[in-house]
Amino acid sequence: MKATPLWLGAVRYEGPCFRLSEARGGPGDPPLAVKLPHLDPSFGEDRESLLDELSLCRSLPEGISLKPRGPAGVDLPGATVWEWVEGQPLSELLGAPMRPASAVRALLCFCGPLGDLHDQQIVLDDLRPEALWLDRVRGTALFLDLSAARFAGPGRGGGKRSLEERRLEILAPEQSGLVALSVDHRADLYALGALFYWMLAGRPPFAAPDRTGLVHAQLTATPEPLVARCPGLPLALSEIAGRLLEKNPGARYQSALGLAADLRECLDQLQIDGEVEPFPLGQRDASPVLRLPRGLFGREDAIAELRAAALDPAVSAVAVAGPSGIGKSSLVAAALAGSGARVATSKLDLVAGRAPLSALREALRPLVDRLLGGDPATLNPWLARLGADDLLAASLVELLPSLSPVLAAQPRRWCCPPWRPAGAFT
Ligand SMILES: Nc1ncnc2c1ncn2[C@@H]1O[C@H](COP(=O)(O)OP(=O)(O)OP(=O)(O)O)[C@@H](O)[C@H]1O
Ligand SMILES: [Mg+2]
Repeated sequence: MKATPLWLGAVRYEGPCFRLSEARGGPGDPPLAVKLPHLDPSFGEDRESLLDELSLCRSLPEGISLKPRGPAGVDLPGATVWEWVEGQPLSELLGAPMRPASAVRALLCFCGPLGDLHDQQIVLDDLRPEALWLDRVRGTALFLDLSAARFAGPGRGGGKRSLEERRLEILAPEQSGLVALSVDHRADLYALGALFYWMLAGRPPFAAPDRTGLVHAQLTATPEPLVARCPGLPLALSEIAGRLLEKNPGARYQSALGLAADLRECLDQLQIDGEVEPFPLGQRDASPVLRLPRGLFGREDAIAELRAAALDPAVSAVAVAGPSGIGKSSLVAAALAGSGARVATSKLDLVAGRAPLSALREALRPLVDRLLGGDPATLNPWLARLGADDLLAASLVELLPSLSPVLAAQPRRWCCPPWRPAGAFT
């Protein structure tokens, strides 16, 4: 590229780390585009991002990004040159509700390149609609901005883009960095879902007066079903959007390919009679990555039994026994999760030769800590009850010395309980 002068034309896209302008090179050259890092005296990080993006795109199959030509050279430090293709950004389609078939067709165009990208274990991580480039006549699409793209891998949080730089209308919960989930290709599918919703409803799934409110909504709120916002919309389309917008990545579509299969089915039906008969979604949705599902297998009965016992006031204790690693702790956690039961749990590890009553202490410690850290209105009735029984109070203080100062304030006559075998607690 170094010998060819470049004439820069109209700016077609402006992102967080570069501006893309149409450009003309030498005679016979295809139309070109130049990505210029944002003006910064040092061209610091943005320059690196563009060169990283260039080498990434050189390694990708065709049809995902613009075709890379190379760095622009010394006259435009940090800039990169690409072959330009005509099209329009998806953002131009987001003003008013689209016809269902048009929205499905537009979304389908992005499923192919996104699936190809994910097959390379790359997450796009930023699907801002200005950079989703669509050729509706040819039915193709590509991504103008892969500067945030990265290899999918474990790691919590926001990736290369800061939260300030992100488009919050399409922010997957895990991209906020505020939940303990790593970002993988399913965050891209969430963003596609938000865009699909936006195309069909004419507005994004969530609205809030400020950015904090929008992040909060993405983390906690359930979007109003599309059918409620768009009367007459085929239910399947509403359900596809809902599935893409699931907070839990495991409940979303797992692959762009699986999504594309359902969209194609919808489009076929829409083109025949303008309706979509309900059909089971996700039949061809296989994850491109082997992912072990969370949750326990084959323990449904035990979970139900344990949960019932935890909620039954007549049951005061339940023992769960089994060899190490069989799943005791996981079973108890699954039974108690979301049950609302107030129980204390503990582990009696015979292998480690622990004192027999130490399990009792470990079960009570979090309860006592919570009680002591709470308000006096809750604490005082408990102290009165415990202090009224000398033997119980003495045993509890020995078990949990943190109770001593508060129980000492209660009237008592207690002494050391006579029945305790030596070494029972520690
Ligand atoms: N039924 C199951 N389905 C899926 N995973 C399971 C199942 N049972 C156990 N596991 C997995 O096996 C691992 C060990 O389970 P867990 O820690 O609950 O065992 P444990 O009996 O409490 O062990 P320990 O005696 O060492 O405390 C966990 O990662 C858990 O998720
Ligand atoms: Mg355990």
